[in-house]
Amino acid sequence: MKQTILVTGASSGFGLLIANKLHENGYNVIGTSRNPEKYQSKLPFKLLSLDISDDKSIESFAEQLYGQIQHLDVLINNAGYMLTGLAEETSVELGKQQFETNFWGTVNLTNSILPYFRKQKSGQIITVSSIMGLIGLPGKSFYSASKHALEGYFKSLRFELNQFKIKINMVEPMWSKTNLGYNTVSSNGNIAEYDLYRKQVKAYFKKSMENAEQPDTVVNVIIKLISAKTPKFRNPVGKMAGMILFLNNYAYNMFEGSIHKSVKTAK
Ligand SMILES: NC(=O)c1ccc[n+]([C@@H]2O[C@H](COP(=O)([O-])OP(=O)(O)OC[C@H]3O[C@@H](n4cnc5c(N)ncnc54)[C@H](OP(=O)(O)O)[C@@H]3O)[C@@H](O)[C@H]2O)c1
Repeated sequence: MKQTILVTGASSGFGLLIANKLHENGYNVIGTSRNPEKYQSKLPFKLLSLDISDDKSIESFAEQLYGQIQHLDVLINNAGYMLTGLAEETSVELGKQQFETNFWGTVNLTNSILPYFRKQKSGQIITVSSIMGLIGLPGKSFYSASKHALEGYFKSLRFELNQFKIKINMVEPMWSKTNLGYNTVSSNGNIAEYDLYRKQVKAYFKKSMENAEQPDTVVNVIIKLISAKTPKFRNPVGKMAGMILFLNNYAYNMFEGSIHKSVKTAK
């Protein structure tokens, strides 16, 4: 039977490429966008309306989804945006909005799917985090914090869902050529002492986006995670990925093994 895969944020960037490729590979794909009517006519897969920052939208989306399908195999949490700006110059309000989408939106949507996955005793949740979920960079405090939050959340949830055979995977891309840079929300610089530094950070960000990698590598990693029998939890993708993975995983794998031994789950 065809596997059914849900891809959030399938109107642009990684999500669009992933959904198209999965469709080409014969999967039954359902994508989401806040404005499906704008994109649907050009897409070969079905696009449903979803704003992950809005609880009501998630509620009606889940109802609509499960009115159309009997079984969901994979949830790809991809939707998100980037807030840029120096930390001290960024209002807490903007920071909260970043979390409403990137963190709480992803958590709320995952929660709306989990009861079905638990009932099925199967499922896979792949979340597009960022290399900034593992490291920090200037001008990206809130974005990086929202991705670190996702990493911590799913690293913990993974223990709890092991008993239901629900797989959890994170993908941590480096800079990639998508529309993320164009859709960035920026705070306004207003502290004179930062003027030079802010200028340098902006130039560094501009250069990073110009030298960004093609998104295909990320798409291929996600496609492989779906068919892998024992997919890895953490999957950094990009030029420095290997080194960052090594630094993050070295001691942690041993620690995780000991937790699995001491916290037994119901069979
Ligand atoms: N590109 C990079 O360098 C890079 C690196 C690391 C991680 N990432 C992550 O990759 C993911 C995809 O980003 P992208 O690079 O492909 O950027 P993109 O081209 O801007 O695509 C973002 C997608 O997210 C959707 N979206 C944004 N806010 C949403 C909301 N509140 N509710 C539902 N959907 C929403 C957009 O859909 P609509 O506007 O149609 O609703 C769009 O399809 C993000 O989580 C991003 O943080 C990107």
